[in-house]
Amino acid sequence: MDIVKLALIGAGNRGQGIFGQYALDMPHRCKFTAVVEPDDAKRTQCGEEHAIPESRRFVDVDAFFAAKLTDVDGVIIATLEDQRIEPILRSMDMGYHILVEKPLCTTAEELIRLYDACVGYEGIIIVCHQMRLTPVYKTVKELIDSGRYGELVCVQHSENVAYEHMAHSFVRGFFNNSRLTPMLLAKSCHDMDALTYWIGKSAVKVSSFGSLSHFTKENCPEGAPPFCLDGCPHYQTCPYNVLKIYFDESTDPAYIRQMGVVKDKDHLRELMGKNRFGRCVFQCDNDVVDRQSVQIEFEDGMLANFTMCGHNGVERRISKFSMTNGEIEVGFTHGIITAHSFEPRRREEFHVAVKGTHGGGDRAIMDNYVDAITSGDRSILLTPIKDSLEGHLIVFAAEDSRKTGKIIDIREFEERVRVRSKGGNRA
Ligand SMILES: NC(=O)c1ccc[n+]([C@@H]2O[C@H](COP(=O)([O-])OP(=O)(O)OC[C@H]3O[C@@H](n4cnc5c(N)ncnc54)[C@H](O)[C@@H]3O)[C@@H](O)[C@H]2O)c1
Repeated sequence: MDIVKLALIGAGNRGQGIFGQYALDMPHRCKFTAVVEPDDAKRTQCGEEHAIPESRRFVDVDAFFAAKLTDVDGVIIATLEDQRIEPILRSMDMGYHILVEKPLCTTAEELIRLYDACVGYEGIIIVCHQMRLTPVYKTVKELIDSGRYGELVCVQHSENVAYEHMAHSFVRGFFNNSRLTPMLLAKSCHDMDALTYWIGKSAVKVSSFGSLSHFTKENCPEGAPPFCLDGCPHYQTCPYNVLKIYFDESTDPAYIRQMGVVKDKDHLRELMGKNRFGRCVFQCDNDVVDRQSVQIEFEDGMLANFTMCGHNGVERRISKFSMTNGEIEVGFTHGIITAHSFEPRRREEFHVAVKGTHGGGDRAIMDNYVDAITSGDRSILLTPIKDSLEGHLIVFAAEDSRKTGKIIDIREFEERVRVRSKGGNRA
């Protein structure tokens, strides 16, 4: 196989902006030859950028699957999480290889149903948990597994969401409501996946606490209008004013991509007066937590603590691994890993290059997907769907704990979900 031919389902921020960019940067490796996207402007933009013929630009998945394209090797499913299951199952019917965005689905029942359907599938199905592939976390995994620091005992891991990212995605944006996806699922299923990857054991019990306290109507400053641009009197003091977040040279282009095809700053200003991202952060329809902690016991008494907080100046993950003969500390943003061994008493520092979106993980996962399709070697896949069950299960069990105030036994939880969803056996 020369160039891998891919169909993109969902040409939004991730689909067009990240995976599409990869295809444009690496035309000798893969090419988008079909697109499914309901938004006319996005579909046209994607079609033009990738020179996809009109006849292969589809408005919905029904039309795409009805076309039964036999010259497509794989699909990339980058729709929102409530639009995933159908394209996954129908792609399997077609025998396509599949790269699907995380999270896989929005409920524990869907997770089990999907997982069972995928067991035994001959094609590739990988989940976009690209953190596993970032050079920093791959190095951490190698150091843990090397045995030079002894056995892993405890992990402290945190996801420090920057205040403007919290506002954009989880207060104003698509991921602000637990009806679609709770915060832990939307943002931190990566972290639960990373914990299971580093630790390499099954989770036993989980507990969680968390709430939404800041971005509420009660905290709305007096006189603030529903949209920032409607003359908010708090422009000087409010860090969330849209002019500060979306009109800055450091504005994340992903924020703008999520608003559709934005022509220029005038168009952006016009959108800010009416789209969801222009709203006052204290007057939105959000209900997801802005802080949450999760405590997990794994097999052999290994412990992990995780904190997600949406009130930070700099977005970064911080991780620390305590081991029987040493300690490893990781600052993801700068790629510096510091390791101390007790015997011999030694301090080492590893500097890992951090380059590209998600620390290089986005590019690495596309490389991994394309390599596996071209070579036919599944053993090189680092995020196969069978490895994603545990992380997703921890998320759903932690949410159960947060809501009920109980400690949740993971295997009992899985069993309860299986009974509810009348699923088959776990593979
Ligand atoms: N892996 C990561 O680190 C990471 C980062 C950000 C977002 N995500 C996930 O990626 C997904 C997409 O996020 P995004 O920011 O690109 O959102 P987005 O809204 O920009 O893109 C989703 C696109 O899917 C299209 N769509 C909706 N229904 C569809 C359907 N039935 N068929 C085809 N297309 C359809 C939408 O029109 C939109 O263009 C989300 O689930 C999100 O959680 C993952």
